[in-house]
Amino acid sequence: MLLGMRVCGPSTAVFRPSTLRCLSRAHRLPCRELTCSPRQTSRWNRQVSVTPRDSPRVLITGGLGQLGSGLAQILREQYGKENVILSDIKKPPAHVLSSGPFVYADVLDFKQLRELIVNHRITWLVHYSALLSAVGEANVALARKINISGLHNVLDLALENCLRIFVPSTIGAFGPSSPRDPAPDLCVQRPRTIYGVSKVHGELMGEYLHHKYGLDFRCLRYPGVISAHTHPGGGTTDYAVQIFHDAVSTGNHECYLRSDTRLPMMHISDCHRATVEFMHAPESQLSLRTYNIAAMSFTPEEVALEIQKHVPEFKVTYKPDTVRQTIADSWPVRFDDSNARRDWGWAPVYGLEGLVSDMLRSIREKRTVEGLPVS
Ligand SMILES: NC(=O)c1ccc[n+]([C@@H]2O[C@H](COP(=O)([O-])OP(=O)(O)OC[C@H]3O[C@@H](n4cnc5c(N)ncnc54)[C@H](O)[C@@H]3O)[C@@H](O)[C@H]2O)c1
Repeated sequence: MLLGMRVCGPSTAVFRPSTLRCLSRAHRLPCRELTCSPRQTSRWNRQVSVTPRDSPRVLITGGLGQLGSGLAQILREQYGKENVILSDIKKPPAHVLSSGPFVYADVLDFKQLRELIVNHRITWLVHYSALLSAVGEANVALARKINISGLHNVLDLALENCLRIFVPSTIGAFGPSSPRDPAPDLCVQRPRTIYGVSKVHGELMGEYLHHKYGLDFRCLRYPGVISAHTHPGGGTTDYAVQIFHDAVSTGNHECYLRSDTRLPMMHISDCHRATVEFMHAPESQLSLRTYNIAAMSFTPEEVALEIQKHVPEFKVTYKPDTVRQTIADSWPVRFDDSNARRDWGWAPVYGLEGLVSDMLRSIREKRTVEGLPVS
């Protein structure tokens, strides 16, 4: 029986059942046999990815965007500062550098990523690097490279090093022929953006590698994420962050979507909590590898009305942008997340009312600290 078997070398790590599953499958056909490239794994690599303690060693790619640093903070509180490494290709601000390890990592550089994973004995990988929907449509070639080639790099490395890998998907993985109200986990997915196409590709590749080789691939379809302290990176739901900043600063917002465009949204703290809870969920509880998660759905008009309860003089004008409006019109207006609720106990905390009060309070506090006027 392999349970409790000790690895050779200086480590006295004991294989956990999940690792054994991966190792026992790995001998069948790891990624090196998918290609004849230098991406060759070794027995040694598979062994050293096991940490001697229970605490995971996490690498977050694309960690300087809207979501990465907040997730790192939560994971560091649970696992210790040194066990969570934030990475990106941008220069980190001072507060990020002082809050824990940060390294430069380009997801297109396979060898450098492998070095990082090996040297830091990474066991969990959170893959946040991506070009989002609106930015992706403006630069299709780059989006294809980062969102598809970059994804292949991290999936190959996860397989090679027996990592638990989290790759977020999105409402953008659905298209005009998908059921829109609500969109279930499993249905027709024919997105019309490079972002959506790359996310469906990610879902399918991850699930394929899970079923064929036992890769511990986990994917959540996030709604539009709303945060006060970090800025969105060029998605179609970005207005739902900017509208709060405008309400508190100028009192006016020009919305690039029609007033009745309903989209699924989520407070960032629910998004982080969902990610952490899902990463912790025992494999035996997961009937799927890709789940929708939902919290609320609203239109620009509805969120504006809720903001006006706190800022009565707040005004919104509508000037729909063709690219973003077309994208939004092809996305679901609501997610069915019943599988996530049933399998691993997902439940959001924030609804529209709570989201609006929290966003206005946080942005006011931030502006006051920075000495900026607030309305
Ligand atoms: N924020 C949302 O509302 C939302 C919704 C659904 C899904 N998601 C997904 O969550 C993930 C994180 O989203 P986000 O909002 O933080 O994105 P973001 O655009 O804010 O950040 C992405 C980060 O990736 C980095 N990056 C770009 N090219 C890279 C490369 N070659 N190598 C390494 N890093 C690179 C960028 O510098 C950036 O910091 C993405 O995969 C996104 O698709 C986000």
